[in-house]
Amino acid sequence: MPEYFVVRGTVEPGDKRGRELGFPTANIALRDQDGSLGDGVWAGWIGRPDGTRLPAAISVGRRPTYYGADGYRLLEAHVLEFSGDLYGETLTVWLGAHLRNQEKYDSAEDLITALKNDIAAAAQWTAGHPADSLPAAGESPLGEVRRVAG
Ligand SMILES: Cc1cc2nc3c(=O)[nH]c(=O)nc-3n(C[C@H](O)[C@H](O)[C@H](O)COP(=O)(O)O)c2cc1C
Repeated sequence: MPEYFVVRGTVEPGDKRGRELGFPTANIALRDQDGSLGDGVWAGWIGRPDGTRLPAAISVGRRPTYYGADGYRLLEAHVLEFSGDLYGETLTVWLGAHLRNQEKYDSAEDLITALKNDIAAAAQWTAGHPADSLPAAGESPLGEVRRVAG
């Protein structure tokens, strides 16, 4: 039985570097700064207020490439094949498969190479775990991470 981590949150402005890298992200603050959800990179889905669900490659952590170990822990979702604006929307995020740990890369190029692999892996995983198979998310407080059985 698959298990998901589910978190709701309102998309905050990032520092826009994601756009410069070519991989914009929807940034969501996490309430539990060191809770059950570990740092890492995940394949999953996001749900928009209008009910639309979109596949995503999701990063949870402190972005060690840019901020070092004392950075702020947040969730960033790069939504696959999407170019719209999500700022201010309250999203539901389903984290389904842990792909790898957060890494400190030597260059933006190395991070971009990793991101491309993450996106391919997330596309593959979401194809096998379609949006209509996701468990109900419920209404949890914003930023609070919950485990939900699939
Ligand atoms: C799928 C994915 C994987 C990521 N993996 C890492 C990582 O391993 N190390 C890291 O420092 N940052 C990682 N990041 C975060 C990027 O550094 C971050 O998206 C970028 O700096 C843009 O930040 P911004 O949204 O605040 O502009 C990842 C982001 C995504 C979407």
